[in-house]
Amino acid sequence: MFNPQAIRADFPILKRKVNGQPLIYFDNAATTQKPQQVIDAQRDFYENHNANVHRAVHTLSQEATDRYENARETVARFIGAKESAEIVFVRGTTEAINLVAYGWGLPNLKSGDEVLVSLMEHHSNIVPWELIAKLTGCTVKYGKVHPDGTLDTADFVGKLTKNTKLASLSQVSNVSGIINDVKHIAKIAHEHDALMLVDGAQSVPHMPVNVTDLDADFLTFSGHKMLGPTGIGALYAKKQLLEKMAPFQGGGEMIREVTLNPQTERCGITWNDPPWKFEAGTPNICGGVILAEAAKYLQKLGMAEVFQHEKELTAYAMEQMLSCCTKLKLYGTTDVSLKCGIMPFGVEGLSSHDVALFLDNYGIMIRSGYHCAQPLHQIFKLQSSARASFYIYNTKEEVDRFVEVLKEVEQF
Ligand code: ALA
Repeated sequence: MFNPQAIRADFPILKRKVNGQPLIYFDNAATTQKPQQVIDAQRDFYENHNANVHRAVHTLSQEATDRYENARETVARFIGAKESAEIVFVRGTTEAINLVAYGWGLPNLKSGDEVLVSLMEHHSNIVPWELIAKLTGCTVKYGKVHPDGTLDTADFVGKLTKNTKLASLSQVSNVSGIINDVKHIAKIAHEHDALMLVDGAQSVPHMPVNVTDLDADFLTFSGHKMLGPTGIGALYAKKQLLEKMAPFQGGGEMIREVTLNPQTERCGITWNDPPWKFEAGTPNICGGVILAEAAKYLQKLGMAEVFQHEKELTAYAMEQMLSCCTKLKLYGTTDVSLKCGIMPFGVEGLSSHDVALFLDNYGIMIRSGYHCAQPLHQIFKLQSSARASFYIYNTKEEVDRFVEVLKEVEQF
């Protein structure tokens, strides 16, 4: 039975006060808090097993390597990948998308080719493609978004042509929490011989995600948004793609051999197998190990239960906000069946930062700004929005307190 009160006991930070008030953390789309199990696993790694991986024959290096590679296996299972070789550890979603842009896009795209993204994307799923377009001459096309924040699927699908080489779409919007049917889009993209990248930054931590079922070619996500540390995340890619892709960065570990040709006085280089071909230099070893601990924690709770909890909380919060607050406006659809636990909103006459600062005085943490998604804010005709986002440890009592304080914000 999913029990947020029992879960809360695992999170030391939730015991603290902010501005003399019990902490209410509603900024989970930005980053999540860490359970004691994850904190302990990090400490255990550095206290007992720390060494570099894949490099030495000594005991500690073997232990670190085993833990790092077992972590890859755990992460692969968490998202339903067929094998751990399809998981590349990266810094996070941003680096994962850049790896695809430079490792697959740069050598494969040319003038006349198209990459299709949507207008609801985080900048990290726009900017790398615009950079690659400058380098290759390909075109970036943008699927439209309805005024309620939902994807205009007909427009998106209509923009898939024989020239489309990749469709890249977030599974959940980081601004609105709206869920896109990426399985359906992947199927149509494949019918056009295009590859499908799913930005899972806001989905993998919150709902069951299975790459094999989605038939995604690439899936990207970040550890810190799913109870893990910052500086670690993963790129999933189908093995045959990783085998063909060029390395993104050069250095130690990603090579099989670097040999000097005495005649030419140049070095010949052969690449390591994937995924190591894409992990140049010493990786974030402890980060990978701890990301796996976070995945295990979530797996124990059950991702379907996590998703259900957040949906219930979102439905409750939206209902309370709309019935109790007169100057408050929710942005995007209020149909909870289309969303998970992210709610953008505004209070008439106040900037989003004013709202966030007011709430902070009461110990309530939300994000304000444009959340690295300016095009979507343009569609909402907004400069910025306030955003509350939920996770496993949030409760209805916290929502009640939040709404109580919002009523005071309205008087401000
Ligand atoms: N991408 C993160 C957010 O939406 C930082 O807040």
